[in-house]
Amino acid sequence: MDGFGDIGRPKVLDGIGLHEPMARSSNTDGVGSSLCLLDGQLEEPLTDRIRCEFLSSSSDAEAHSRHFRQSAVGTDSCDKNYFIDQATARGFTMTTMTTAEEIGAFRSEAARGDKLRGRVAFVTGGTRGIGAAISKSLVSQGATVAAGYGRNTEQAQKFLADLSTASDGAEVSVHQGDVASADDCRRTIREVIDLHGRLDILINNAGITIDKTVAKMTEDEWNKVIGVNLSGAFFLAQAALAHMLERGSGRIVMVSSVIGETGAIGQANYAASKAGLFGLTKTLAREACFQMGRAGKLTEGGIGVTVNAITPGYVSTEMVESIPEKVLNRIKDSIPMHRLAQPWEVARVVHFLAADASGYITGQVWGVNGGLDM
Ligand SMILES: NC(=O)c1ccc[n+]([C@@H]2O[C@H](COP(=O)([O-])OP(=O)(O)OC[C@H]3O[C@@H](n4cnc5c(N)ncnc54)[C@H](OP(=O)(O)O)[C@@H]3O)[C@@H](O)[C@H]2O)c1
Repeated sequence: MDGFGDIGRPKVLDGIGLHEPMARSSNTDGVGSSLCLLDGQLEEPLTDRIRCEFLSSSSDAEAHSRHFRQSAVGTDSCDKNYFIDQATARGFTMTTMTTAEEIGAFRSEAARGDKLRGRVAFVTGGTRGIGAAISKSLVSQGATVAAGYGRNTEQAQKFLADLSTASDGAEVSVHQGDVASADDCRRTIREVIDLHGRLDILINNAGITIDKTVAKMTEDEWNKVIGVNLSGAFFLAQAALAHMLERGSGRIVMVSSVIGETGAIGQANYAASKAGLFGLTKTLAREACFQMGRAGKLTEGGIGVTVNAITPGYVSTEMVESIPEKVLNRIKDSIPMHRLAQPWEVARVVHFLAADASGYITGQVWGVNGGLDM
């Protein structure tokens, strides 16, 4: 295989859409030498956000690679033009450039399956951030997805249009409702069941932060965060569980946070709400088993009704955009993986837990945090 002829045509390795490692010069005359800075094992990412492949007009491809990597490392920028300018200034031609989000999309694409075909999922806060990634990953596994949102109607409509187009005919709907209102929780669950005929999977993902030290936190700031993150999860689960128990199968996944396990300065309300989800998850899981047993529906090899929680670490979404850069750098230093998670890395755990085959996993808390709590 001639390296020059292959440039710009990414190889799919192990079905994850990464490019074939090609750290070599392909032509003896040096013209059109190739160097791929992305390797299948992800040993040499330029930054944690962007990876590139380029042509070098000189035979000294290794030296160019070093210069380029030095300029790129630490920028943490997804602005493709920035990298194109950097490359051009050094005499390179960029051939492919892939952002972390796109790599995630490729991976999700490659991970397509049908383990959730016929299932209907409701994802609260499902139109942006981690929730949008969860919605997409559930669709990628064949589920019909109803995505909830609070106020951002424009984003919800855009999400609906994008996902409907991208998913090639998958059924997707969006539902407005304030998770802090018990009435809205019950109404949206009913709406989803009326529209799609059933509800198999509930993902309690909607969440907010209002950060203040304990000394400065007002009653309203405490109540608002508890209301959305914890009470909302309870009222949604209460309405969904009744339907699931009646049908004899179902999955509920709570999106908690590593902060619920560790606490964090300035996040008493958030940490308490996320820790509260552990107790809620385990109680719902026990009650679901109890009710199923009492109704004679706990059968060998049955799908069952399970309730689990996941605890993401720091994920690259709008929620962490408010964290000052200095603080964020300190956070990254404290993470063994030295980077934030991408939303799709959280989403894949959710669709695993949502699968019929995960029927023996209940009342558990799953960490997705780059090793933060080791
Ligand atoms: N990002 C992180 O680092 C991180 C880490 C650990 C855990 N988490 C948890 O993961 C979940 C998603 O986080 P994210 O970073 O993706 O957040 P995000 O980008 O801020 O999105 C939050 C979502 O929740 C919805 N929402 C907020 N308040 C609502 C309300 N009262 N009623 C209905 N929907 C409401 C929003 O709807 P609108 O679009 O209408 O505003 C939005 O879709 C949260 O529970 C968060 O605590 C996040």
